[in-house]
Amino acid sequence: MSDKSVSYWSNAEEGLRAVELRAAGFEPSEAMKTNAVVTIANPYTNAHRCNNRVRRIADLLVEEVSSAGGQGLLVGAPAVSDAMTQGTENAGYSLVSRDLMADCIETGHYAHHGTAMIVVSGCDKTGAAALMPLARTNAFGLVVYPGTSSPGRVDFEPWASKGNNLTILDYVEGAAAREAGRITQDELTSLQRCVMPGSGTCGAMFTANTMSTIAEAIGMMLPRGASHPADYDAASDIHDDVKRQVQASVEALYRLMEMGLRPRDIMVKEAFENAVATAYAMGGSTNLYLHVLAIAREAGVPLTIEDLQRIGERVPLIANLQPHGTYAMVSLHEVGGVPVVMKALLEAGFLHGDVMTVTGKTLAENLADAPLPEDLPDQDVVFPVARPLAAPGNHISVLSGSLAPESCVLKLSGKTLEEGEFRGTAKVFDSEQGAMDAIRDGRVVAGDVVVVRNVGPVGAPGMPEMVHLTIQLQGRGLGKEVALITDGRYSGVSHGILVGHICPEAAKGGPIGVVRDGDTIVINPITRRLDLDIPQDEMTNRMAQLGTPKISDIPENSVLGKYRRLVSSAHYGCVL
Ligand code: FES
Repeated sequence: MSDKSVSYWSNAEEGLRAVELRAAGFEPSEAMKTNAVVTIANPYTNAHRCNNRVRRIADLLVEEVSSAGGQGLLVGAPAVSDAMTQGTENAGYSLVSRDLMADCIETGHYAHHGTAMIVVSGCDKTGAAALMPLARTNAFGLVVYPGTSSPGRVDFEPWASKGNNLTILDYVEGAAAREAGRITQDELTSLQRCVMPGSGTCGAMFTANTMSTIAEAIGMMLPRGASHPADYDAASDIHDDVKRQVQASVEALYRLMEMGLRPRDIMVKEAFENAVATAYAMGGSTNLYLHVLAIAREAGVPLTIEDLQRIGERVPLIANLQPHGTYAMVSLHEVGGVPVVMKALLEAGFLHGDVMTVTGKTLAENLADAPLPEDLPDQDVVFPVARPLAAPGNHISVLSGSLAPESCVLKLSGKTLEEGEFRGTAKVFDSEQGAMDAIRDGRVVAGDVVVVRNVGPVGAPGMPEMVHLTIQLQGRGLGKEVALITDGRYSGVSHGILVGHICPEAAKGGPIGVVRDGDTIVINPITRRLDLDIPQDEMTNRMAQLGTPKISDIPENSVLGKYRRLVSSAHYGCVL
């Protein structure tokens, strides 16, 4: 899409614009002197801790832009919290909001005649959406991250030995452990009070931090911008590192305009490869598969799900972050942030150093002074590439097979399966709630493969995250003995033996629709296959009898109804 920016003052309607500006509280003669109209994309809400600091950041950005001689114009967008929607009937609105936010930002930018754009991100989908309008409009710009939540600590095991590294993951698994009678109510209350002392996104390598990492690694956020804490506690102002990022980001924006360096000059194919490699090295969320494909499409970069597999499978897991590891995201920030990981990957030949970034310099130039993990004293937050937490090929893999003719994604987060594969007995559910009831009733046991279907992008619609199921399995000690497969998706918090994004989904006639209780399902990361172990003629018969898949009943004219009509499969990133 071309740059549709126009000057306020280059047409015959100057007088009318002056009236409009004065009525909106601007001094027209001052506005006439502006050197840039900067869209400040501001997905603020006071509804949740992930984006409740965004307004303060957006206001600071407006001030900084004004000091630089520009005019910062705020554009709102709905920031949906996954924590508030997961496991509820509104869960579909989460993924739907990604594209809705991108559309809101594009609309406001062009409607206000923006010449540049700074997008404030936040919760999972806000992070994904942040890069989409920048790539789509190709307006000069970059991303600022509001920050992640600081961790906490408690004094009882098994959490005491984790030190000051507890995150929302520890609370939710603690709640499941309480339900299963494994901890006391007082212990659960302590966890509740301690794990998140202030605002910010879920505090480890979950989806929001995966997407902030991708924004930094792709070159669209300033170095060390992906890992800072949002604040000091819930009553404090935003963290000083966020303020520094705001100021530096406006300076960077003006440099980009001077250099003529636009997002599509930065978000080139090699930059996407850098972003995916970095996210793999840090154990990022499976959601990156959906979002990177969607951002690449906006940037006009040809990238397929197999490309992501090819890039990721070479990369060892080196960041010791939850959910696969020990630490919270701010621990990474304290040792130097994402640049420490990227420096290790660059030296090992996993990254392209010659791509441009929003600093106006190449990635290699940005990393020139960053330390290698082995040069940092007394830390085990980032491991050297030569001594990784897990060898390449053990994080996320793209599989296919008789249960997923198109594709699906397997998340192992560094684990290897004891027998090389997981072979288990299907317990089939047509809703997340059905599976939840079965787990809570003790009907899911070691050796089972829980199948949750009709929760795909079309079926649900909106492809909700099965995070509460994975939490229940972990909290009950079944994380290593029960697998979960679905045409829905997972939160970055989720870990275990998890297969999601099964395509085609049940609502599109995918073979996940023919699985029956008691069938044998085989998950094999080595052959990269997901199979229903029944004879081929039986499979053919069942597919012939499948009929029209059931889909949930929602109003056609609702956002979800429109989404269902437009959305592509997870294989293509659920793009519209
Ligand atoms: Fe917002 Fe997790 S709920 S980042």
